Amino acid sequence: MKDARPTSITLRRPDDWHLHLRDGAMLDAVAPESARHFGRAIIMPNLVPPVVTAAQAEAYRGRIRAALPEGSGFTPLMTLYLTEETDPEDVRRAHRDGIATAVKLYPAGATTNSASGVRDFDKVRPVLETMAEIGMPLCVHGEVTDGAIDIFDREAAFIDRVLKPIRRKTPDLRIVMEHVTTADAVDYVRDSPRNLAATITTHHLIINRNHILAGGIKPHYYCLPVAKRERHRVALVQAAVSGDPRFFLGTDSAPHSDPAKLQPCGCAGIFTAPNTMSCLAEVFEAAGRLGALEAFTSLNGPRFYKLPPNEETITMVKGDPVTYPERIETGDGPVTLFDPGFALHWRVED
Ligand code: DOR
Ligand code: ZN
Repeated sequence: MKDARPTSITLRRPDDWHLHLRDGAMLDAVAPESARHFGRAIIMPNLVPPVVTAAQAEAYRGRIRAALPEGSGFTPLMTLYLTEETDPEDVRRAHRDGIATAVKLYPAGATTNSASGVRDFDKVRPVLETMAEIGMPLCVHGEVTDGAIDIFDREAAFIDRVLKPIRRKTPDLRIVMEHVTTADAVDYVRDSPRNLAATITTHHLIINRNHILAGGIKPHYYCLPVAKRERHRVALVQAAVSGDPRFFLGTDSAPHSDPAKLQPCGCAGIFTAPNTMSCLAEVFEAAGRLGALEAFTSLNGPRFYKLPPNEETITMVKGDPVTYPERIETGDGPVTLFDPGFALHWRVED
């Protein structure tokens, strides 16, 4: 009997709605990796020092463009790093002039290079009100930093302590909960009006906390928010494959050199840019929802950001296992790729 399962799928070119490209030698090495498959990406501003002003975002965008291969059509969509000193008028100008697409909220101390983030959320109210007025999205790293809250509970606590008050006070603000990791966040987004959406990473669809901690500690699976229990991973997969327009791909591909990760106190971040599309095709196929991959990677994100989907398409083909290098070399040292722990059969055609 003929196997009715597809061996090739064509989708609008995907976008990455949450990406770390770094700077300098690391940027030069990783920008082409994202540009290979993705049309656009929301670029995270957590450099050292952070990208706070419109002028800094414009300069960073120039450095990203310079790191792209000749003729690349990849578009970096810039974000501004929200601090308690951010000037609402600078944000307004950055949005008006097409320099910044969104603003990123890091609670101070939540993750890599977040020390200049927000401690007192009331101090950023004028910025949030300006953003609500002009329709500019706020991307949030949704974890509380309270040392008394267990790290596995920090996302759920953020919803109650920070997100709900912000949404009550600024109901028109468009918000993306970045890299959601819990069933609590999925349910919260699903039950909210359409101006709240969420990105989901590739790795959180694949790993749970056992992958990090059982049978030896695996630094290459460590990221923030940290992967949770299996039931949360299952909730994330259900959200991703559901076709619900409020869930879309943000890889959070976050390269760190191996020496920076393999430390007594190693960095958080998983590098997924090169093999994300192959990983996602496996996840969606296993869920019997390959037909929903395009919505997740290529349609829902642009719809939320009020941008057209990419005109171009990519074709993915299923065949013998595809291999990716274990790590890429960069001027800042080797960077290990995410290992999904299963064979990848889908590759993006050149
Ligand atoms: O794992 C992470 N790495 N989570 C973040 O929020 C930041 C990122 C990074 O910049 O390395
Ligand atoms: Zn991130």
